[in-house]
Amino acid sequence: MKVLYAVSEAKPFIASGGLGDVGGSLPIALRKRLIGCRVVMPLYDKIPQEFKDNMKFITHITVPVAWRRQYCGIFEAKYNGVIYYFLDNQYYFKRDALYGYYDDAERFAFFSRAVLEIIPYIDFKPDVINCNDWQTALVPVYYSAYYANSPGFENIKTVFTIHNIQYQGKYGTEILQDVVGLGDAHASLLEYDDCVNFMKGAIECANSVTTVSPTYAQEILDPYYSHGLDPILKARSWKLKGILNGIDMVANDPETDKALPAHFSVEHPENKAICKAELQKEMGLPVREDVPVIGMVSRLVSHKGFDLVKCVLEELLATEDVQVVVLGSGDWQYESFFLEMASTYPEKMAVKIGFIPALASRIYGGADIFLMPSQSEPCGLAQMFSLRYGTIPIVRATGGLRDSVTDSGDNEGNGFVFEDYNAHDMLHTIRRAVHGFADKEGWQILRKRAMECDYSWGRSANEYIKLYKALIKE
Ligand code: GLC
Repeated sequence: MKVLYAVSEAKPFIASGGLGDVGGSLPIALRKRLIGCRVVMPLYDKIPQEFKDNMKFITHITVPVAWRRQYCGIFEAKYNGVIYYFLDNQYYFKRDALYGYYDDAERFAFFSRAVLEIIPYIDFKPDVINCNDWQTALVPVYYSAYYANSPGFENIKTVFTIHNIQYQGKYGTEILQDVVGLGDAHASLLEYDDCVNFMKGAIECANSVTTVSPTYAQEILDPYYSHGLDPILKARSWKLKGILNGIDMVANDPETDKALPAHFSVEHPENKAICKAELQKEMGLPVREDVPVIGMVSRLVSHKGFDLVKCVLEELLATEDVQVVVLGSGDWQYESFFLEMASTYPEKMAVKIGFIPALASRIYGGADIFLMPSQSEPCGLAQMFSLRYGTIPIVRATGGLRDSVTDSGDNEGNGFVFEDYNAHDMLHTIRRAVHGFADKEGWQILRKRAMECDYSWGRSANEYIKLYKALIKE
């Protein structure tokens, strides 16, 4: 079986969020299960030179972007047993950031078209193309519009994976002809709500639509979570499936993680105390073993639950003996709120604005409790990282959080869970965790249970393989 995994970011080459974690780990897990899986992604200027040095130029082609043809260089590199194709066009990808440009629609229309155009040149005719999020959502659309009956492209099945339904690739309809290059015959595939909507097109055209947790697959059928796409998904729910993400257990291992000041494991958790003390020092908090450190690592945006935090953080800081450590960047209102709290409660609260992977690791490693009160969370990986690092997650029961964290109230779960998106429910749950922390022996048992949870790719990769096989048989 041959799978081409089309994605706009993949670790370790480049990543801006959880998509990059999955892009960097699922293909390796598939390869390990002897599935022929190759990855195709843009050759961003910002990919570190050490990786570029190991890329081999294969050839260059031209790719149609509506009525124009654009240069596309094809480079290849092998990493962890997986072949990666990097598609080069400096006009589109020589930029400081991955996304957020006025011409994103064109940049990723180019990339999606190129994913198909390179197939005759790479000696790899896929049985399945698995695309991800709006950036590659046009692949299934172009395939069904222009390639399905072309020689050399027959019988390719397309899978579209939704990592976050909030970002759909929505544009004005004026881009249809000159940017996307779809004429009247195919315009209806993309049109939705008087806009062009890349994700809607993929949901229509792909043979299968997956999302990153079983709960989220249910949730996005509901208008509360669907950002307008529930009618489209409901009509095609037969092809929708939720498969929980896994994490890279090698890259995220407290026994070897280079970012940590000391290493530990389930069998030898002692050095976690060193990580905690060093984290307190690094963040300028009093070094105290007896106070629970609550960590947050996140984009500071509303759907991550920061409105709840804003509502009750001061009450928490004023009434409980806790330390809170926040790392993230995003909306100004949350950044300034946390900075203000840190200056009002300097002994209890510390914040670092930014995206600093090494500090993120040190928070997973050094904190006692990890807070993730998301309003919605397709899968969420931070709760899995913190479980692996023995940091007990507090989550709201949504999406992948519901599917990976269970409440320890019954002496079986691995964390603390609250159901409703309500600030005082969250506060009550934080208090339960803080009181749980005070019971040293009970906490050690809980930590052990958390660290023993297996969120490696094993089970999930097998589910993808099952799905691919079923599609190929169709
Ligand atoms: C997106 C989602 C996150 C998920 C990740 C990887 O970033 O918001 O919940 O874990 O994609 O699928």
